[in-house]
Amino acid sequence: MQFVNDLCVVGGAGHVGLPFALVFAEAGLRAAIYDKNKSALDRISSGTVPFMEQGAEPLLRKALAEKRLALSDSPRIVGESRVVVITIGTPVDEFFNPVFKDIRNCLAELKPFLREGQVLVLRSTVYPGTTEWCARWLRENGLNIPLAYCPERVVQGKSIEEIKQLPQIIGGVTPEGEREALNLFKKISVETYLLNPIEAEFAKLFTNAYRYIHFATANQFYMIAASAGVDYPRLLEGMKFHYPRLEGLPGPGFSAGPCLLKDTMQLNAFAKNQFDLGAAAMNINEGLVMFLVERMSAQWDLKEKTIGILGMAFKPENDDTRAALSYKLKKVLEFNAKAVLTTDPFVRTDPALLPLDQVIRESDILILAIPHRVYKSVDFLGKPVVDAWGFLAKEAGL
Ligand SMILES: NC(=O)c1ccc[n+]([C@@H]2O[C@H](COP(=O)([O-])OP(=O)(O)OC[C@H]3O[C@@H](n4cnc5c(N)ncnc54)[C@H](O)[C@@H]3O)[C@@H](O)[C@H]2O)c1
Repeated sequence: MQFVNDLCVVGGAGHVGLPFALVFAEAGLRAAIYDKNKSALDRISSGTVPFMEQGAEPLLRKALAEKRLALSDSPRIVGESRVVVITIGTPVDEFFNPVFKDIRNCLAELKPFLREGQVLVLRSTVYPGTTEWCARWLRENGLNIPLAYCPERVVQGKSIEEIKQLPQIIGGVTPEGEREALNLFKKISVETYLLNPIEAEFAKLFTNAYRYIHFATANQFYMIAASAGVDYPRLLEGMKFHYPRLEGLPGPGFSAGPCLLKDTMQLNAFAKNQFDLGAAAMNINEGLVMFLVERMSAQWDLKEKTIGILGMAFKPENDDTRAALSYKLKKVLEFNAKAVLTTDPFVRTDPALLPLDQVIRESDILILAIPHRVYKSVDFLGKPVVDAWGFLAKEAGL
């Protein structure tokens, strides 16, 4: 059977999908992208990656020039592609329930364009059992298509490098699904590791929940030490000094973004709300915001103060604001302080952001929400800077 494209990434204009398509285009495959976001597709077709992703833009320009990348906002392109990679996941609602309608609707929309000879790969983080559910859905719809779950495990911003570097877990539903997925990833010469689908789904969720708990440990230590008036960055340095067993202990800071909290909640839902470590991590990581505001309130009369928040992305050197704790901080401070000003050197999607020098000039107190490198060498005009990260030499001591 002939296909125009070797693979098509559904949701391919996004953070997971676009780097994936580009890496495979670079490896010589003809890649396609199906995405509903027309404006993102327009930017991509003009050679611009719509978000920060190291090394992605040169690959995009090359793929476009070599005609190895087709873009479409119509699912028809899925029917022209042999391997269909779905990056649509199972988000979590406000009551901690996984939401299946996105993936269900996605499959229903793709159904007219799926046929024998194709291969289906699930790439996003999903609720355990979703791959088996998809396999059932394919069978019930008379579609004899091999299926595998091949989770994304890279760190956003370094996807291009890490997709090729980090071992790829493959959870084939059938031996054929496994073989097809292995063949796909062979094209980028990445090491592979075989699990069954539910193991692969857990592998992804446990990885993210573990990282989230790890950050919560650091944040809880920080809050205990700071409450006792102890300078935690100094203490941490001492604890880690030439002590290999603590090498992996991170520093404190806002642990946020579109994945870690969501995936911990997803696991908690699966564990019938008995994932106590995960639930504690959520309270600790989300609670760091309130902890900082409370400590600031104890030191200053916030009603009389303008607070400047530095860094609105969810992590350093990135432009993505999804689930960023800096926005939670902004909301809490808007309730408590006279005024709140915000700035970020990378974020382009928030019209409320102001230039850094204006925020410094017009604020009484600054708070480092995200330690972008640029803040290291900034003149804060002698204003106090609250820095839970321990990133700056001089801080307000909170
Ligand atoms: N960002 C990460 O680092 C990361 C890592 C691992 C897993 N994930 C998971 O992968 C999934 C996608 O994450 P993302 O960061 O790429 O999100 P994103 O919002 O950047 O991208 C999703 C893309 O899918 C498109 N889309 C949504 N529904 C669609 C549909 N039915 N048909 C076609 N296109 C559709 C959107 O327009 C968007 O461009 C999420 O479930 C996320 O949890 C993300």
